Amino acid sequence: MMNEKMQNALNEQINKEFYSEFLYLAMKAYFAELNLQGFVNWFDVQVQEERAHAFGMYDYLIERGGKVELLEIEKPVIEGNTPVEIFEHVLRHEQYVTSRINYLLDVAEEVKDRAAISFLDWYLKEQVEEESSVGKVLATLKLIGDDKNALLLLDKDLATRVFTAPVIG
Ligand code: FEO
Repeated sequence: MMNEKMQNALNEQINKEFYSEFLYLAMKAYFAELNLQGFVNWFDVQVQEERAHAFGMYDYLIERGGKVELLEIEKPVIEGNTPVEIFEHVLRHEQYVTSRINYLLDVAEEVKDRAAISFLDWYLKEQVEEESSVGKVLATLKLIGDDKNALLLLDKDLATRVFTAPVIG
C-alpha cells in the first residue's frame, strides 16, 4: 500500500499537470487569435504533453494500488499581453512545476519509497527539457523584438514541432 503523504502529493501533482494543460490551452487560443499557427501547434504539443504527464501519474498510482483523487482544476489565467510576456509566464510556470517535482522527490525520500524515486526521476529529466525548450523560444522572441518578419520565421519553425507520446517511468 502506498504511503498516504506520497499518494496525496501525487494526486496534487496530477491536478497541477491538468492545470498546465488548461493553461497551455488558453495560451494556444491567444496565439490562434493572432493567427500565428506555428505557435498554435507548439502549444498544442505542450497541451498533449501535459495530459501525458498527468496520465503517467494517474496510471502509476493505480499500478501501485494507490487511490486516485481528482481535484478541482483552477481557471487558467495568462500573465502578459505579448508573446514575450507569455513565454516568460510559461518559463515561470515550468520552473514552478520543477519545484513541485523536487518536492515530490523530497516526499519519496522522506517515506523511503524507492519505486517512486525511480518513477519521478523521469519527470525531473523531462523538466530539464521543458525549461530548456521554453527558454530557447523566449530567447529568440527577445532577439526578434518588433521585427514581424522574424516573428513569422519563428512561427514557421514552431509549426514543425511534433508530439511523441512519452514512455514514462
Ligand atoms: Fe508537466 Fe510542463 O510539466
